[in-house]
Amino acid sequence: MTHTDFPATGPLAPPAKGTLKLVDVRLYGEGEPVTVLIEDGVITSVDADRDTETDHTVAGHGEVLLPGLVDIHVHLREPGREDTETIVSGSQAAAKGGFTAVFTMANTSPVTDQPVIAESVWFKSQYAGICDVHPVGSITKGLAGKELTEFGMMASSQAKVRMFSDDGKCVDNPMIMRRALEYAKGQDVLLAQHSEEPRLTEGAVAHEGETAAKLGLRGWPRAAEESIVARDALLARDYGNRVHVCHASTTGTVELVKWAKGQGIPMTAEATPHHLLLTDEKLNSYDGVYRVNPPLREEHDTLALREALLEGIIDCVATDHAPHGSEEKCCEFEHARPGMLGLETSLAIIAEIFVRSGRADWRWVAKVMSERPAEIVRLPGHGRPIAVGEPANLTLIDPGSSWTARGGEMASKSENNPYEGMEFATRVTTTVLRGRLTCVNGIPAEPFEAA
Ligand code: DOR
Ligand code: ZN
Repeated sequence: MTHTDFPATGPLAPPAKGTLKLVDVRLYGEGEPVTVLIEDGVITSVDADRDTETDHTVAGHGEVLLPGLVDIHVHLREPGREDTETIVSGSQAAAKGGFTAVFTMANTSPVTDQPVIAESVWFKSQYAGICDVHPVGSITKGLAGKELTEFGMMASSQAKVRMFSDDGKCVDNPMIMRRALEYAKGQDVLLAQHSEEPRLTEGAVAHEGETAAKLGLRGWPRAAEESIVARDALLARDYGNRVHVCHASTTGTVELVKWAKGQGIPMTAEATPHHLLLTDEKLNSYDGVYRVNPPLREEHDTLALREALLEGIIDCVATDHAPHGSEEKCCEFEHARPGMLGLETSLAIIAEIFVRSGRADWRWVAKVMSERPAEIVRLPGHGRPIAVGEPANLTLIDPGSSWTARGGEMASKSENNPYEGMEFATRVTTTVLRGRLTCVNGIPAEPFEAA
């Protein structure tokens, strides 16, 4: 399948004119260093003479070259909370993290439940030219869980919305979810579910377990997530449309997704870096930065998610990058808003857990952070092989450059970084979007035009 077999995106900013070469880079971290040549936004050689004259040159020093990363779950807060993130600042955080395409959730203010809002997100990202920001449309109007939005109008709008979700909230009414699946099938769009049975999570702020009991925090049971995953698998079986599980967090969810796939049900799933790395023991500090939905779980959940990602039961990594202002985080744990930053640390975390530990290689990272997510949303032009004739959406990674994660030094407008002070060994150095350098030496580009 080529990328042009997928439904088109909306109008794209023109690719960078001119030539760029990436010298001494190792494709997928394999083999001898080569020089990649890019002309007018397209890869024209993966074995060029390193002395070829070009407009721009990046010295790769043997670093790892991967296809540009794709994140199908972020929150960029525009419109409505531009004080915490905008399309531009979120694009810069994405580029710094090695991403060339992200999907921003619909829980903005106003909610992305109409074509005009989706188009505004898409066009702003193209004016900025730092990352392709695809709007996710909401499944129900105003995220109220009652009335379906016009999937068809949004899918055929200039934003070409291809994914719908009420993320932040669950479509808990099974009849509404059934109708949504039937409608989505006709439009061939993806539904992504924030799996949370709300009657089981009233007032809940932490994983239901020993830590929450000890700290006196109201618990969020695994069953709240798993009951919805099971229900959606059955609905997808009977009404035949694709359904995607956002931020899988429990061992039971892994088992259910495995069962669904075994039955041939078109269910896919993502896991976040924080659910792969952190556990609810972090809550012992009572620090609101660790409040997130679904909550951080226990060690066996973390380990089950890692195995499932390695085995392909969980399809991909998605960050659920959720910026919040300091006034919303630096308060009592119960009052802190749920959500964590993720775009600028995700590659380093995945490299730490899987590559540096020897459990997987860079080809696999390309699969779970670029190729699979692009396939799940049927996105053309991203998650493609590094080969002649392909759009130059690329990320260059230094696997031996230690750095310390600090919220205050991030491109994001917010600082709710749950990895504060943690040291990582892998760093994104360069990101390229259709031939344009969107991150150089860890510094993201400025927008083409103030959007
Ligand atoms: O922790 C979360 N924060 N989970 C969600 O589902 C929504 C997100 C947000 O919008 O802040
Ligand atoms: Zn969610």
